[in-house]
Amino acid sequence: MNWLPRPAEGQAWVAPSLLSADFAALKNDVDNMTAAGADLLHLDVMDGHFVPNISFGPFICKFVHGLSDLPLDAHLMISHADQYLEAFAKAGVDGLTIHVEAEAEIGSTLKRIVELGMKPGISLNPGTPLADILPWLSEVDLVLVMSVQPGFGGQKFNPVALEKINELKSRRTSEGHDFLINVDGGINDVTGPECRQAGADILVSGSWLFGATDRAERITLLRG
Ligand code: DX5
Ligand code: ZN
Repeated sequence: MNWLPRPAEGQAWVAPSLLSADFAALKNDVDNMTAAGADLLHLDVMDGHFVPNISFGPFICKFVHGLSDLPLDAHLMISHADQYLEAFAKAGVDGLTIHVEAEAEIGSTLKRIVELGMKPGISLNPGTPLADILPWLSEVDLVLVMSVQPGFGGQKFNPVALEKINELKSRRTSEGHDFLINVDGGINDVTGPECRQAGADILVSGSWLFGATDRAERITLLRG
């Protein structure tokens, strides 16, 4: 298990989303992002059912595990996460985030993720009210706030995420929880600092980070 503590106040960890990597040269991109200062790697798993796109599964996660010492955070955009938990644990994934809108039974799935030695996370789409995940806040190590409709990289940031981040941060304090607040979708030099100021602990970025000529400069800017 390889995991991160809460970042220093006013800072955030930076998680490149490998969805924007060049898979014909994956090792180069992983090495390059690691050298540029990435704090963890975000792995977008899509099944063509929960979202319209298909990406990759545990098979590819295992290769990434062999390429990197960074914590691996898998974002499962799949209808039946419960059927694949062992496979992701075996692949060497550290954090496993499921969607509240998906079909798997949430309580038992989160418990099983913990039993398998991984950090459980819960995610919600931009159109899903925060109320839907409140019952799970004491069970998770990660809350992943989607700032785009999941399925594709390169979309525009939806500011509804900022309100959710704000409320999650105040609930964490008032209710005594201990999760990290993760935000994903449309993160760049404007939206990244906005999310950090609202209370995000992890900023996921795909197209903006991978499209940079100087990735280290962009990671430093996001980290704060
Ligand atoms: C969207 C994925 C994101 C995506 C982010 O379904 O969950 O992780 O890769 O990409 P950008 O940063 O390009 O919006
Ligand atoms: Zn993602």
